[in-house]
Amino acid sequence: MSEKENGSGAHYAVHWQDEDNINPPAEFIGQANMTDPGVFDRFSLDKFPECFKEFADLLDWDQYWHTTLDTSDAPCWNWFVGGKLNASYNCVDRHLAKYKNKTAIHFVPEPEDEPVVHMTYQELYQRVNETAAVLRDFCGLKAGDRVTLHLPMTPELPITMLACARLGIIHSQVFAGFSGQACGERIWDSESRVLITIDGYYRNGKLLDHKSIGDVAVEVALKEGQEVDKVLVWQRYPGKYASASPMVEGRDYFVNDLLKQYVRVRVDPVPMPAEGILFLMYTSGSTGRPKGVQHSIGGYLAYVAWMSKVIQDIHPEDVYWCMADIGWITGHSFIVYGPLAIAASSVIYEGLPTYPDAGRVWRIAEELDVNIFHTSPTLIRGLRKAGPDEPAKYNYKFKHMTTVGEPIEPEVWKWYYKVVGKGKAAIVDTWWQTETGGFLCSTIPALSPMKAGSAGPGVPGIHPIILDNDGNEIPAGAGKAGNICIKNPWPGLMQTIWKDRDRYVATYFERYCKDPNSKDWRDWPYMAGDAAVMAADGYVRILGRIDDVINVAGHRLGTKEIESAALTVEEVAEAAVIAAKDEIKGVVPDLYVSLKPGYEASQELAAKISGAVSTVVGKIARPRQVFIVPDMPKTRSGKIMRRILASISNRADVGDVTSLSNPEIVEQIRKQVQD
Ligand code: WTA
Repeated sequence: MSEKENGSGAHYAVHWQDEDNINPPAEFIGQANMTDPGVFDRFSLDKFPECFKEFADLLDWDQYWHTTLDTSDAPCWNWFVGGKLNASYNCVDRHLAKYKNKTAIHFVPEPEDEPVVHMTYQELYQRVNETAAVLRDFCGLKAGDRVTLHLPMTPELPITMLACARLGIIHSQVFAGFSGQACGERIWDSESRVLITIDGYYRNGKLLDHKSIGDVAVEVALKEGQEVDKVLVWQRYPGKYASASPMVEGRDYFVNDLLKQYVRVRVDPVPMPAEGILFLMYTSGSTGRPKGVQHSIGGYLAYVAWMSKVIQDIHPEDVYWCMADIGWITGHSFIVYGPLAIAASSVIYEGLPTYPDAGRVWRIAEELDVNIFHTSPTLIRGLRKAGPDEPAKYNYKFKHMTTVGEPIEPEVWKWYYKVVGKGKAAIVDTWWQTETGGFLCSTIPALSPMKAGSAGPGVPGIHPIILDNDGNEIPAGAGKAGNICIKNPWPGLMQTIWKDRDRYVATYFERYCKDPNSKDWRDWPYMAGDAAVMAADGYVRILGRIDDVINVAGHRLGTKEIESAALTVEEVAEAAVIAAKDEIKGVVPDLYVSLKPGYEASQELAAKISGAVSTVVGKIARPRQVFIVPDMPKTRSGKIMRRILASISNRADVGDVTSLSNPEIVEQIRKQVQD
């Protein structure tokens, strides 16, 4: 089954069975925003780049652009050149005429006895203006300055982002779960003089002290050489300070106090060039310091607006809930900018999805009548583990669901479809990255059938190609994986890595660019860094990062395939495979699994799981050991920390685990495996 390693990197055989097509429900098609099959023709490569006018025309421009794409600084592409616009105006002001009384943001606090806040577009407008006044008049910030935000999931986060955007200030939001060290490094890299944080927020029933992390961040930044002169502190309960950390005189200010001077002040949105910078979003590379992914104003906003309308199928009357954290790109693009650009009502939930119990998510869905739901495989697996029968107990109805962030195992997809979606929702599996601004591969929900585990073809305007290491195309249907690349630029693609153009070129283009001096976009395929296989019908299945490959005795195995095989066993809730060192074979897979509630670990079960891997992937992939553990070590964003499991298997130091959502599990697993 497996083929011998042939030295060509990402190019390896795959063992996936193709899944059946499932058609979207007729009811969904009847109301969908995009039902015109001609859309792919409108966006064929010979219509590039002018086809993207359709994206730009979803926005209001202060000055219309004259050039769709300028390639003179390849591969730093400039879109909609000559145009001027304001992102805050496009997400807020322009909706007032029709929608000022409509909810822009439904904020659901974690404590269930705190009422949901339904913030209208008018109120959002008011609060964005006043906050912008603080930034401009109190902090002296102006277009092009960078500001670091370290905010959790409360409405103050989008309000602050939109206040920055109103003035052309570049925001750099750091995920609230990140440490002071991580935040400080990002303050330093972005050269922010202002940090915006909050005193506390709820997570798993506790009001966490958040402001104190900001203090560490400021110290770390200073050590690196970047001074922060103002720390603005929102309060979870205005007027009541929830942090133990002292306010530093002359440096720290409560935003709620400052706002009193700016009541009802209006701040005109600053018309910004389309190629201005909207935000930085730091993402970790496999090596070295985090990369400040730099996104434009015009191209990015046009891209996420169109995707929200066509792929997310958001109408102004829908209730749309994306369960990502705004501290990640999914939240920037598909909680804040995309949905608000098209006048959506977007749900923001503060806390842990399973707090206080496994029914919470479905209660929120029922209460708010959410009809579009957007989340990740990690969370779907987590919800299935915590309460596989919970969705059926609640009376909600999703018309549309999204999965994003990692490959979804067909078993998990089917649970999502049948149990969460009750068989009535259209599902899109959207493959993309922080760097790409918005979706790259996905089905158009009313136009194409779904296929469990496949993201689908390129979205309109995106032309994917699978290349082997020598740059040869691996044809669709060849059953071989390779490096997935995009042949053409698109408006949502990052502009560069902040202050590091060389790293941008090296990371995403160098490998397949034949002429580094070329100004022709055709010479610059974008390399995503993922391994993928394209089926005969053009549907793309992502296998994971190119590096997530285990090489057993010269056989390259995709970790996702092994995990997916383990998940075909009824009892298994989550699976993680890691490379364990082996004297003979180099490395062998060790498999960690956790079970659904009501099942007990046993030798027989471990053998059954091991057997499933052998059957589905091949004997070569049979795990050395199957460890049935009570839970997986997970980050605050819910990703399984395979690195820690690998350290345990290899009896190496697990490092600092304090930032995990469940640090106590590490010692338990270590004992189980090593003792
Ligand atoms: C993975 C998240 C399979 C992929 C939007 C990518 C996926 C990385 C999918 C980017 C999907 C994202 N199917 N894999 N639908 N979506 N990925 O930057 O490996 O946090 O390169 O952006 O997640 O992660 P990032």
